[in-house]
Amino acid sequence: MEELLSDEDVKGLRKACEAALKNAYAPYSRFRVGAAVLTKSNRVFSGCNVENASYPVSICAERAAIASAMSAGEREFRAFGILSQSSAPCPPCGMCRQAISEFGEDILIYLFLPKRDHIIYRISELLPHSFGADFLNEKK
Ligand code: THU
Repeated sequence: MEELLSDEDVKGLRKACEAALKNAYAPYSRFRVGAAVLTKSNRVFSGCNVENASYPVSICAERAAIASAMSAGEREFRAFGILSQSSAPCPPCGMCRQAISEFGEDILIYLFLPKRDHIIYRISELLPHSFGADFLNEKK
């Protein structure tokens, strides 16, 4: 079971989210999101939402962060942080829950509030009974 992050790691994750949020491209929804992933090798990769005039082409901040980490060769993730401009913590959408659970059931999800506080979940709590690789590998 993945241990909760140290205060320092939480701070680092939040900082990365804050920086990414500033770069969000959200001219349509005007809802900026910054996400960051902490890898098991202790590196942090961030992502922001990138919208498109053809709306479904848009990508969420969480999946942008995954793409960034994967592009650097990282495959093992400890925790994600998510920050939006909203006063309430921003939960990952269903598609991002599925995308995160690909990499482990007990990955931690830190939903940051605009000031200091956060709420912690595991991805298995946010996406119980998930569909994963095991189903595809089952022998018939
Ligand atoms: N969005 C994210 O990037 N992550 C979330 O967790 C929720 C929603 C984005 C998608 C879209 O650009 C905007 O927020 C409004 O839905």
